[in-house]
Amino acid sequence: MTSASAPGKIILFGEHAVVYGRPALAVPVTQVQATATVSENSRGGIWIEAPNVNLSSALAQLAPDHPLAAVINSVFSTLAIARPPACTVYLQSTIPVASGLGSGAAVSVAILRALSTYLGRPLTDSQVNGLAFQAEKFYHGTPSGIDNTVVTYARPVYFVKGQPIKTFRVGASFTMVIGDTGISAPTKESVQAVRILWEAHPARWEKVFDRVGEIVWDARQAIERGDTPALGTLMDSNQALLQEMTVSCSELDLLTEAAHKAGALGAKLSGGGRGGNLIVLVLKEKASAMAEALLAAGAKRTIITTVRAR
Ligand code: MEV
Repeated sequence: MTSASAPGKIILFGEHAVVYGRPALAVPVTQVQATATVSENSRGGIWIEAPNVNLSSALAQLAPDHPLAAVINSVFSTLAIARPPACTVYLQSTIPVASGLGSGAAVSVAILRALSTYLGRPLTDSQVNGLAFQAEKFYHGTPSGIDNTVVTYARPVYFVKGQPIKTFRVGASFTMVIGDTGISAPTKESVQAVRILWEAHPARWEKVFDRVGEIVWDARQAIERGDTPALGTLMDSNQALLQEMTVSCSELDLLTEAAHKAGALGAKLSGGGRGGNLIVLVLKEKASAMAEALLAAGAKRTIITTVRAR
């Protein structure tokens, strides 16, 4: 029996514009995890058990473009295993699905690592990242690659599509409260909505994406020098541009307002938007009170996470 886990993630700055070549910043969230366990079975064939999404199926019965089937098959083809041994891939995850916390990428990374290790030929991080990116296409359509990258390497990432992974220094630890609207929002749909806007008026949206890119660059510098108040202001500016891209929603806006009333330094949606999670920057000592305020304003659950100085 072999197990592997992968963390969730939040995008601090730059979602959506990152699909159009602008940089973005993301960090892992280790309080939530996806775990894959591979074990021998006696019934024959490859089986997938994923109780979180009510799935119990033989691999052969899933469509080839089913993301879980695609990930499992990619391990066999990469390792050139024509006759894989009978086994069961069991998935457990505490990362809410379609909430902007990278659940799809974490499940892919956990499967890739657990299955390749079970087969005695563990994939390298770079192979895991590449195959998880291919799987992201089944979840997202046109992913930038940021989710699989931050989840694979489990460290802060300054990401530009198609470029080698870069990390960034964190000058002073800072604390975020993550508040879940409880609204499930597939990233594929919000990415598609932005694409429709961009296709209709490319020049206008390229300018918006440029502004996001500038915010991301300023945010990286603020993080490096440990300037938390500046970071908060930049989050608010990023959120205004995400609203312009139509990827916020009334529930996220309501939580944002509640966060500011409760003393947030800054707040924005994280990930695809139109539901999912809000991230709120707070002074560490105010984190619990902020979590309470978000719950009182309708958040379904909260996570407090600290990005540590490094
Ligand atoms: C999703 O976590 C982030 C998006 O920018 C999509 C992507 O980068 O693939 C919305």
